[in-house]
Order: sequence, then structure tokens, then C-alpha cells
Amino acid sequence: MTDQNALKHVVASKALEYVQDGMKLGLGSGSTAEIFVELLAPKVRAGQKILCVPTSERTAALARKLGLTLSHLDDLAPLDLTIDGADEADRNLDLIKGGGGMLLREKIVAAASKKMIVIADETKLVPRLGKYPLPIEVIEFGHKSTVRHLSECFAGLGYANVPLTLRQKDGVPFKTDSGNLIYDCAFGAIQSAPKLADAVSTVPGVVEHGLFINIATTLLIAGPGEVEVIHRP
Ligand code: A5P
Repeated sequence: MTDQNALKHVVASKALEYVQDGMKLGLGSGSTAEIFVELLAPKVRAGQKILCVPTSERTAALARKLGLTLSHLDDLAPLDLTIDGADEADRNLDLIKGGGGMLLREKIVAAASKKMIVIADETKLVPRLGKYPLPIEVIEFGHKSTVRHLSECFAGLGYANVPLTLRQKDGVPFKTDSGNLIYDCAFGAIQSAPKLADAVSTVPGVVEHGLFINIATTLLIAGPGEVEVIHRP
């Protein structure tokens, strides 16, 4: 196991401490969240009653295989807790998510949860968001026009010439679980994540973006020898 993988296990295991019998739980997506799902399964097999809402088809398949009880968000909301990974996080608990392309459902589920705990290894904790390209999910119809509007929107905020790359998989455009496209936007550094998030949301054709602002309540960051627990200021 690589060091980073070992840290993912450590932090996923720490997150289990926050799960209580009877909870309605949102299950995140990505490799760290999947490790958490694997660690959760024995608790459920041991008799804990936990109802889960997955944030992606991939997490749903894993959870089903492991015998977890899945339900629909609209039947369970509000959820007690969602546990998910992140691509980047800062100490305000603002996040970039969507590296795996599941940002839309991840945000809907997290927003419908009383608490969101983000689990990550120390490489994800950054002083400023933006080194990781920001995923923006757009409707396929007119997506090139949407991209032009996004570029204008970025320029209006002082971000000139941000490269927007249509995400590909196996040589064709990647489609999200909801059938949309993703553009990865390489800012390098984002000056104000809340301002950018608000502006991007106004562009027609944008379904959702990967900035999670004021959503996470706790960040668990695994480094060698310890897990740092950071609460939203
Ligand atoms: C999925 O769309 C993402 O938001 C993931 O939560 C994020 O990419 C973190 O994934 P890893 O745990 O695999 O780094």
C-alpha cells in the first residue's frame, strides 16, 4: 500500500467514529470515500441500522455489493451526516470536488445533510484553492456557448485566459451520472472561492460547479502519525 493510500485508510477509519447506530448517512464518491464504505460494511453486518444514500452509481454499486441498505435521498432527507472526500480543501472548509465527476449528486446530498465530514490525506489541504482544476458540469446543449460565457465570467472577475478543458474518457467526452459534460478549469489560484462560485452559478448552461462553499462542517486530514480535525470557523 502506498503512503497516500495508507493515509486514506487512516482518515476513513477516523470518520467511522462519527457514525452512530440509526443514522441516515450520505456516502461520498472517490477512492477515500470508497475505503470508508468498505470500513462501514462490517458495522452494518454486526447489526447497526444505518440507511445510506450514495452520491454516485459507482458508490451505490459498491455499497450494494457490501450489503449496505440504500435508499433515495427524497425518502430520507434530511440526512444526519454525509462523509465524502475532496480534491482540495482549505482551512475555511471550502472545497474543490468533482475530480471523479460526481460533484452534482455529491453537492445535492451534502446540502441535504445536517453535517458533512470531509476525509482526505494531507496532500489535499491547501492554503488557497485552485491548483486542482475546478470541474464545472454543463448541459451538452450549446456547451461551446456556455464555455464562451464562462470565459467572459472569469475575465470579469480578473481571471484572464483560464484554460477550460472538456473532460474525456476513453477518447470520447466524459458523461456524468446525469448525462452532462464536465469542463476542467485551470485557475492555478482562486482569489475568492465564494465570489467565483456565485458568478459561475449565474452562467446559463452550468448545472453545477465543484466549489463547495459553507457546506462542509468538519475536515479530517490524515498526516503521518495523526489525523487533524478542523471545524468550520
Ligand atoms: C468525486 O467526484 C470527487 O469529488 C471526490 O470526492 C474527490 O475526487 C476525491 O477523490 P479521492 O478520494 O479519490 O481523491
